[in-house]
Amino acid sequence: MLELGLLIMEGSWQKDTLVEPKMLIQLMSSVPVHLMRTALWKISMVPNDMQPSEVPELPLYDVLGVSEQECRRYLKLARFVQYLECTGRGGSPQDIIEAVEWFPKDAGRWLKVAGGDKGVILWDNLKRKPNTAHEVVVEFGTLVGYTSIRLGAICVEAKSNPSASRRCADVVSVELDACHACVARHAIDLAGLSASVEVWIGQVRDLIPRILEEFGGLSLCYVFMDQKGTAFHDDLRHLEDLGITGVRSRVLADNCLKPGAPFFVWHVSNTNTFDTTIWSVSEFASEDIEDWMIVGEYIRAPSREEREYPDRVHDVLVQLAWETDNMRAGAERGGMHVDDWVAFSQYMRRYFAHLGIEAVPWIGIPEPETGYPADMPLDNKKLAERFDAAILAEASFIDPDE
Ligand SMILES: C[S@@+](CC[C@H](N)C(=O)[O-])C[C@H]1O[C@@H](n2cnc3c(N)ncnc32)[C@H](O)[C@@H]1O
Repeated sequence: MLELGLLIMEGSWQKDTLVEPKMLIQLMSSVPVHLMRTALWKISMVPNDMQPSEVPELPLYDVLGVSEQECRRYLKLARFVQYLECTGRGGSPQDIIEAVEWFPKDAGRWLKVAGGDKGVILWDNLKRKPNTAHEVVVEFGTLVGYTSIRLGAICVEAKSNPSASRRCADVVSVELDACHACVARHAIDLAGLSASVEVWIGQVRDLIPRILEEFGGLSLCYVFMDQKGTAFHDDLRHLEDLGITGVRSRVLADNCLKPGAPFFVWHVSNTNTFDTTIWSVSEFASEDIEDWMIVGEYIRAPSREEREYPDRVHDVLVQLAWETDNMRAGAERGGMHVDDWVAFSQYMRRYFAHLGIEAVPWIGIPEPETGYPADMPLDNKKLAERFDAAILAEASFIDPDE
């Protein structure tokens, strides 16, 4: 799968318009999950004259070497595509955002997206200072395009000023997995945002130079890191080294406590290169699990000394990073219980406290006199209330005597 992603990345980067459709046809003929092959056949935007006339049969050989966990994830994402189709979703960003939020209730499956309180933090930071005509918003890790759609909608709304017309996308989201990317592009298309939001297939570390090539130096005004916590600091450093981050650009990062991003947390808290706030938030529907979302405002590139870690700190960070990756791998295998996460986030918090790093509890945005804007995302509490009300309404239609 990684190799296929690399070939797609190379082809798109070189602007060879034939490589990607060829590879996507290869993908839809090779994924060992029937529902995902069907979904890809329907949604991958390959030219009509290249599209197979029928959904490809189960491949004889597992050329992609897809793991069982990936198969399970593909099944879930293919069900999401079915769900969008069955419920006739589409037409506006809000409609697709709501579809992602209702999917757990209607289909019993969670999608790992930055919703609830985390969604409010992401929304608020872009809403207060959207991109200008020469700036781009970047997301690392797309999944089904939930946050890309949210960010794209803000940029489009802010652009109602005609002088802000631009020649390329407002939002670029980078996704390693070509199946995820196809589902996200489909969702973005249904949301009516394909002119503003692009999904690039490939690994973050490989695609960072493409941001520089296509948008130029200092072009990044907002980046949301949601790929893998133990890679955040390297990817951030790459952005800094290439001079892509503009002054006062915002760097937001999810899952910094659970499963964690130890080197990144240390870097943005202990150098004077960022104006950093660490928000402590609860995971939606798992209020006992604490996580940290980091919002940093970029001030200047770090000096060489600021990039070095004191020996004692380095050893602790290496250990925490190992534990972080171990927990993530356990979660991907499906072997984690809520209690494990509660204990792990407390453990991480204690270690960070020893390093002098603490978070501020997120208490939400104070309500303006005019009321909250209509496009503000629902926080954890409001999402939970909406869920409960829907379940109650459904239950009231069930006759207990039947
Ligand atoms: C938590 S999900 C992203 C959710 C999304 N940001 C949202 O809020 O809607 C993480 C995604 O990152 C992708 N990913 C992981 N490592 C990556 C990497 N190195 N480069 C690009 N994508 C990566 C995964 O395939 C997955 O789809």
